[in-house]
Amino acid sequence: MAEARIYAGLDIGTTKITAIVAEPEEDGEGIRVIGVGTAPSDGLKRGVVVNLEKTTRSIQYAVQEAERMSGRTIRGVFAGIAGDHIRGINSRGVIAVSRKDAEIRPHDLERVIEAAKAVAIPADREILHVLPQEFIVDDQDGIRDPVGMSGVRLEAEVHIITGAASACRNVIRAAERAGLEVEELVLEPLASADAVLTQDERDLGVALLDIGGGTTDVAIFYEGSVRHTAVIGLGGSNVTNDLAIGLRTPVERAEQLKLQSGCALTSMVRPQEVVQVPSVGGRSDREVSRHMLAMMIEPRIEEIFELSKKEIRTNHIADLLGAGVVLTGGASSLMGMPELAEQVFDLPVRRGFPMGITGLTEAVCDPRFATGVGLAIHAHLTGARPHTAERGVLSRISFGLKRWIEELV
Ligand SMILES: Nc1ncnc2c1ncn2[C@@H]1O[C@H](COP(=O)(O)OP(=O)(O)OP(=O)(O)O)[C@@H](O)[C@H]1O
Ligand SMILES: [Mg+2]
Repeated sequence: MAEARIYAGLDIGTTKITAIVAEPEEDGEGIRVIGVGTAPSDGLKRGVVVNLEKTTRSIQYAVQEAERMSGRTIRGVFAGIAGDHIRGINSRGVIAVSRKDAEIRPHDLERVIEAAKAVAIPADREILHVLPQEFIVDDQDGIRDPVGMSGVRLEAEVHIITGAASACRNVIRAAERAGLEVEELVLEPLASADAVLTQDERDLGVALLDIGGGTTDVAIFYEGSVRHTAVIGLGGSNVTNDLAIGLRTPVERAEQLKLQSGCALTSMVRPQEVVQVPSVGGRSDREVSRHMLAMMIEPRIEEIFELSKKEIRTNHIADLLGAGVVLTGGASSLMGMPELAEQVFDLPVRRGFPMGITGLTEAVCDPRFATGVGLAIHAHLTGARPHTAERGVLSRISFGLKRWIEELV
């Protein structure tokens, strides 16, 4: 019997690289995680590959571990991409429906999406995703799937995500050097969204913040579609560095202190609690209050939230976020994150854990794995799309990504 198809997600993060292998469930609906591998990563800066060799090695470690655990061989992967070179813009395309009976066909959708893509994209940038938001048939707006409807004029509103060509190419190169083929590059927050958001949240309006080591990725949804995306070049590593400088202690120790005793909201810790801080240069250890630690952490996290809030405010979508804010990514595990976020955004906030999967759920039930799990889910949805009527045409259209990858590499 032929082996069942596997779906592999490769999250190339600033602090760790994760490979996740999954199989389709028997009913074809969801996925079962059968292998997880992680390796520390230090070939990236703020989400972008800057050292191919180191990145390739980390990918190999992570993939080998996932292969060992699953007993399967990984060849094709869905790889994540982020970094502050990512731009998201909204665009609109219009076409005349040519058929005499004015019935809209799948071919018309392709044409209208092509028309929406016809915006000036600089030569050094590549289109990663074209995400249809809604269609307008004659003057009727808010249509999710116009195929089969009648009309003479079809419009599409889309969100176009582009990335710097060199950054995209380097992710693909690193994977290829590790012996893998990149089937698709997926914007990391979109992958995370697939793992942690519910459909209700996407419909009601929600801002997802994936706060990793080097970047905070923002994706805003309402009425079921992506409305805005942004990548902010700050994350948990900045907090660690602030602590290392503020406490004059090695970075590794600062990281440990942050994980064990850190808090994003000063008012949540009692001033009496103290922690030991080793000094550099042979001086003796010192005691620092947790309150003091939180005072060093809070401004940086607040800065990250304020920058994310600016993304929401400049797009005039604050009023549309009925489901509030969801925090995921490793740094969202820091104590006090949802509480501080509620103060800054003035919206309900929850932490987002990967969900909707079976298998090794305990191993991946951590916000750090939102992107990796989301990539495997995305791979499954892409493969299953021709058969899933429910997700509809909005997510089914493919945009020749492979073609430009072949041209580039
Ligand atoms: N329990 C925890 N409490 C506080 N911070 C945590 C915890 N676990 C992880 N972190 C922090 O989360 C960050 C790593 O998150 P994550 O693994 O999501 O990043 P990444 O995917 O490697 O990076 P990026 O997405 O920015 O490229 C680190 O700064 C780490 O210190
Ligand atoms: Mg990440």
